[in-house]
Amino acid sequence: MDYKEIKDQICDVCHKMWQLGWVAANDGNVSVKLDDGTFFATPTGISKSFITPEKLVRIDASGKVLEGAPGYKPSSEIKMHLRCYEKREDVGAVVHAHPPTATGYAVAHIPLDRYCMIETVVSIGSVPVTPYGTPSTYEVPDAITPYLPYHDVMLLENHGALAVGADVITAYYRMETLELNAKICFTAHLLGGEKEISKENIDRLINMRAQYGVTGKHPGYKHYR
Ligand code: 13P
Repeated sequence: MDYKEIKDQICDVCHKMWQLGWVAANDGNVSVKLDDGTFFATPTGISKSFITPEKLVRIDASGKVLEGAPGYKPSSEIKMHLRCYEKREDVGAVVHAHPPTATGYAVAHIPLDRYCMIETVVSIGSVPVTPYGTPSTYEVPDAITPYLPYHDVMLLENHGALAVGADVITAYYRMETLELNAKICFTAHLLGGEKEISKENIDRLINMRAQYGVTGKHPGYKHYR
């Protein structure tokens, strides 16, 4: 895929996140790893509704800006993104947003760890709440690091959500799955509570990942801490 296509995909994802109400003002950020080990990242302080290809910045693995329009700096959460790439060779894109129902769980400190919806069990598994970190500091990457070997999707305590994937569309789909699952779990909770799938059926669903060609990590049965 050439740089133009990758930049267009990042812009598409940014616009969708804003349209879906997952971000307000300058919330959220997106990055993609390029073949040469550099990255495209969204700039800090700009609404995801206004992101255009020329506003994206290219950075190296230390966060240094290699290319970018004057005045555009990478996202203030770039340390969190770079930690995902550093710890996971398979990660090619990182998406951070504040989807409201999933973020409600992050604010309530409730992990989405009930295996009660088949699609979610197959695609992302349980979603932990990672410990609190002050935005833009190393507290955030340090908080997510213990979870990265097992999880492609995490809730950031009192903050929002993070999804990683081999490419930006995969990471974005995982964020969609998270938010839909949060809505379904919340509805089931109002209806008297989620009823979990049996361990035997959970194992069968997890084993189907290979058949569906699902990439990334899965926490397995109840492995969320
Ligand atoms: P940036 O505008 O720096 O990307 O920050 C947005 C955000 O969501 C912080 O958590």
